[in-house]
Amino acid sequence: MSHASAVDQAPLLVRPSHDGDVGAMLDIYRLHIMRGVEPAFAHDPEALQPDDIKRRRRNMRKHRLPHLVADRGGAVVGYAYAVQFRKRPAYRYTVKHSIYVHPDHLHAGIGRALLPALIDACAAAGFRQMIGYIDAANAPSIGLHVACGFRQVGYLPSVAYKFGQWTDMIMMQRSLGAGGTIAPDVWPAVVPDGDIR
Ligand SMILES: CC(C)(COP(=O)(O)OP(=O)(O)OC[C@H]1O[C@@H](n2cnc3c(N)ncnc32)[C@H](O)[C@@H]1OP(=O)(O)O)[C@@H](O)C(=O)NCCC(=O)NCCS
Repeated sequence: MSHASAVDQAPLLVRPSHDGDVGAMLDIYRLHIMRGVEPAFAHDPEALQPDDIKRRRRNMRKHRLPHLVADRGGAVVGYAYAVQFRKRPAYRYTVKHSIYVHPDHLHAGIGRALLPALIDACAAAGFRQMIGYIDAANAPSIGLHVACGFRQVGYLPSVAYKFGQWTDMIMMQRSLGAGGTIAPDVWPAVVPDGDIR
């Protein structure tokens, strides 16, 4: 039985990730990497490891950066998270994000549930702008982002080299909350390490 048929009848829940989700998130990531990366790069010794994701999750919680999963009947079928756009303090109200849906569950509305939840969580945390970098040929992702209020703000020609050809990226952005219309709120306090789950 495929991953999809086992779980696709259960209700979809979007919730914060926890360490127990890391294996499933890594599986989803690897499945997409296997499809999107040349075989020569598929066994990168520096490829993402479970501890990397756990460390990233902890660090993100400290900075109130959301890390969400889509859970269908207890199975993680997608995940999405935001990180700081750039490290320098001037950029602290801007995030960039990533979203991955399990290949067995594509075009079933999971992205449409996950991305708005991530947008809401970033807005609630006080961030004002959200940015995604997307392969210019990635129609599903571009469609999802347009549907969720993003617009193209940049075009980066020939920035990646995949499958023997140069690949363009587009940069998509949307504002959160009051966006750039008024000064930001007082920045929320950092959550102490002990609060991390
Ligand atoms: C991009 C991605 C997250 C979309 O997730 P999804 O769960 O399949 O998306 P949904 O089913 O919620 O669809 C939402 C919208 O996305 C667009 N979309 C989704 N699949 C599409 C496809 N195959 N072709 C064109 N548009 C598509 C549509 O606008 C769709 O709205 P609609 O159902 O009203 O037509 C998913 O394809 C994915 O994980 N891709 C691999 C990783 C990736 O590219 N991540 C984004 C990197 S920036």
